[in-house]
Amino acid sequence: MIFNVLTLLSLTALTSGKPVARSLELHESRDTIPSGFKLTGPAPADTTLDLRLALTSSDTDGLIQALYSKRLLNKAPQANQYLAPTQNSVAVVNEWLSGNGISATTISSAGNWLAVSVPVSLANEVLDANFSIFTHEGSGQQSIRTLSYSIPSELKGHLDLIHPTVSFASPIPKSPMRATKYNGTVQPKSAAQPSACQDDEVDPACLQALYGIPTTPATESSSYLVVTGYSQSPSPSDLELFYSNYGMSESANLTYSVIEIDGGDYDPSDPGDEADLDIQYTIGLATNVPVTFMSVGVDTSDGVFGFLDTANYFLNEDSPPSVITTSYGDNEDLFSASVQNNLCNAYAALGARGVSILFASGDAGVSGFVTGTSCTDFVPSFPSGCPYLTSVGATTGSSPETGASLSAGGFSNVFSRPSFQSSAVEAYLEYLGDTYSGLYNASGRGYPDVSAQGDNFLIAWGGEFYTIDGTSCSTPTVASVISLINDRLVAAGMSTLGWLNPFLYSTGLSAFTDITSGDNPGCNTNGFSATTGWDPITGVGTPVFSDLLTAVGL
Ligand SMILES: *[C@@H]1O[C@H](CO)[C@@H](O)[C@H](O)[C@H]1NC(C)=O
Ligand SMILES: *[C@@H]1O[C@H](CO)[C@@H](O)[C@H](O)[C@H]1NC(C)=O
Ligand SMILES: *[C@@H]1O[C@H](CO)[C@@H](O)[C@H](O)[C@H]1NC(C)=O
Ligand SMILES: *[C@@H]1O[C@H](CO)[C@@H](O)[C@H](O)[C@H]1NC(C)=O
Repeated sequence: MIFNVLTLLSLTALTSGKPVARSLELHESRDTIPSGFKLTGPAPADTTLDLRLALTSSDTDGLIQALYSKRLLNKAPQANQYLAPTQNSVAVVNEWLSGNGISATTISSAGNWLAVSVPVSLANEVLDANFSIFTHEGSGQQSIRTLSYSIPSELKGHLDLIHPTVSFASPIPKSPMRATKYNGTVQPKSAAQPSACQDDEVDPACLQALYGIPTTPATESSSYLVVTGYSQSPSPSDLELFYSNYGMSESANLTYSVIEIDGGDYDPSDPGDEADLDIQYTIGLATNVPVTFMSVGVDTSDGVFGFLDTANYFLNEDSPPSVITTSYGDNEDLFSASVQNNLCNAYAALGARGVSILFASGDAGVSGFVTGTSCTDFVPSFPSGCPYLTSVGATTGSSPETGASLSAGGFSNVFSRPSFQSSAVEAYLEYLGDTYSGLYNASGRGYPDVSAQGDNFLIAWGGEFYTIDGTSCSTPTVASVISLINDRLVAAGMSTLGWLNPFLYSTGLSAFTDITSGDNPGCNTNGFSATTGWDPITGVGTPVFSDLLTAVGL
């Protein structure tokens, strides 16, 4: 590959005498190295970079209009047509690449993403960049990034972004959760008592009681739920252990399917806490909904943990899942606005095809996704800022439920406030008054959208019981509720819910219990406070299954 590139380059130089001079224009840059990373030195000239190029989508406005009008539900190819670049963009970008001796591979079904492999020296020259080695301080992991790059001015409007360049993702820890060994007596809560979630640990039975989640098995095999896992696997034996102690009905289907991408290596002999949690609670709560675990490995050059690869994988499917739940993320300021917009548009396309995308809001209150962030200004979470996904916060206790202090929430610096949440968020901003003025972006999209229990979840992990906290607990809980609603919709011959947000803030509002106490401290403040109506800790509240059925017209 590299050999070919260099050969072509020298041929070009021979025939034309000298490379065509093009006027380069700065395309993306960041002023400073993000906190948590340090510059180690220049990247070796002959190191191969795996870069991706996003071509400008031909009609994102049309996609968003179609998403709002629910026109595209279940019509796969049409969603891709909006994301596809124009033929002219494809031609202009490919001409530029081949003129520099670079060959590209198309890596998304819509044709909007290309992959190239180039040596650092060529990338630095063609993009007027300075690719350097940056070291993540916490883990020592190194990555090659540049603080700026340029593209020929005639590519503006055709080439959306080159990535990973100015975005920095923290490495995903092997065990991202805070798990505590459980030393109590393992026995199921009484399903009859909603207060069952209150005193100590949370289990599926108490969540079923608290939110009215039925144990009636789902019937529609076409409507499935995907749990994504990054460098972690769940374990079927932990799942068996969990349910042998939790009295789940013998007829319940305790199996799940597995998909591997990006070198994902599903290895149940070395289970992860997050993966075990997600599988045990989706299988336990979404009774008989088919569950698929997507194992995403580290062989991704997508620069956002594999989120882009995951989205593109399902955009390419004839039958995408009805719900995807993801309990991973990072701080928003690590990622360029353009890559966030691009990923968000992929979620819009999935939403238009009937997929509900759920992400955990993060576990560090107003200080962001990851605990231990030092901050003065509040730190928004990624990808919760994207309005085309549903961000899930955490609650604790059950009479009444309150916002959990860890529940990340706030306002995006990248995405502006969408109209579907304007009255809900404006009411909160009015309540807030001048408090924290300047620490958060009052024009940004507010998150989370909804919440559920996220404290003291019991899991079986590595053959033993642990308790675990976080919006990682809340997200599969809400995902299970939505999956069961979708099952009923499909059984009634109706479409799955797809993108949830406009519904959550309008007809769906009555199907959530408003959580009005709790706060999410961080950055040396008490954080935001929950109150009547939407708030940036608990969103519009926690689900009530029977009211959701009514709200969707069942
Ligand atoms: C490029 O980055 C290296 C560090 O990786 C730095 O030493 C060098 O001064 C930079 N070059 C330019 C032209 O900015
Ligand atoms: C069980 O764990 C709790 C909290 O971690 C601790 O306070 C208690 O002493 C432990 N009990 C036993 C018997 O180890
Ligand atoms: C159990 O679930 C798996 C994975 O979702 C599915 O392939 C299988 O058909 C299910 N089995 C039954 C008996 O429903
Ligand atoms: C605030 O959010 C808007 C998007 O709503 C964004 O354009 C602006 O740059 C953000 N301000 C800061 C200081 O980040």
